[in-house]
Amino acid sequence: MSRIIVLNGSPRKNGVDSSIASMISEEFPKEGHDVEVVNICDLDIGGCKGCMSCRKTGVCVQDDDMNRMIERIRKKDMLILMAPIYFAAENGQTKTFIDRFTSAFTEKRPLGDVRISSVLLTCADPNGSTVFAASLKRICDVMGYLKVENHDDGHILGGLSPDTVRESPAVREYLEGLKSLLRD
Ligand SMILES: Cc1cc2nc3c(=O)[nH]c(=O)nc-3n(C[C@H](O)[C@H](O)[C@H](O)COP(=O)(O)O)c2cc1C
Repeated sequence: MSRIIVLNGSPRKNGVDSSIASMISEEFPKEGHDVEVVNICDLDIGGCKGCMSCRKTGVCVQDDDMNRMIERIRKKDMLILMAPIYFAAENGQTKTFIDRFTSAFTEKRPLGDVRISSVLLTCADPNGSTVFAASLKRICDVMGYLKVENHDDGHILGGLSPDTVRESPAVREYLEGLKSLLRD
């Protein structure tokens, strides 16, 4: 049994990412996993102030939801970070969230028990996997900075709509890939 946290960066409650997150929370418990979905946009998370206090204390001076989120994430085995592409990069709320991992960065095990991570970007462009490869690589590299042992090279799914997600072979392939990561 693995403890999975899905961090969904999309503000759309019934959008593409939310639908994929719902599929994970419906299917993965049947394989014995525990799934928690968190909508990043529901959290109160301020932008990193760049003050570097957290390098000394390990916690952010901002008393908002992020310090608590890091503690929650640290109790998981797998982190799935998903976000929509907005103007050729992950949306702003997701970037703000990623920036705030700074307070965890200097720890030996920044993300605690998390040993597997997977990054998913969704976009309108059906050629998104080529067009947005640099954005994807940048976020996957962050998982490396955060010393997640097994971080995948990420995934980009383009041209989906909330109506087509559940029937999409590409989404099915993505989910089966996640399951096999958990079996390894
Ligand atoms: C403000 C905004 C900017 C977007 N910019 C792009 C873009 O540059 N390239 C692209 O392929 N799709 C772009 N999209 C489309 C979304 O990335 C795409 O529909 C995504 O799957 C939406 O995910 P969601 O339904 O989970 O929010 C944009 C959408 C919005 C709202």
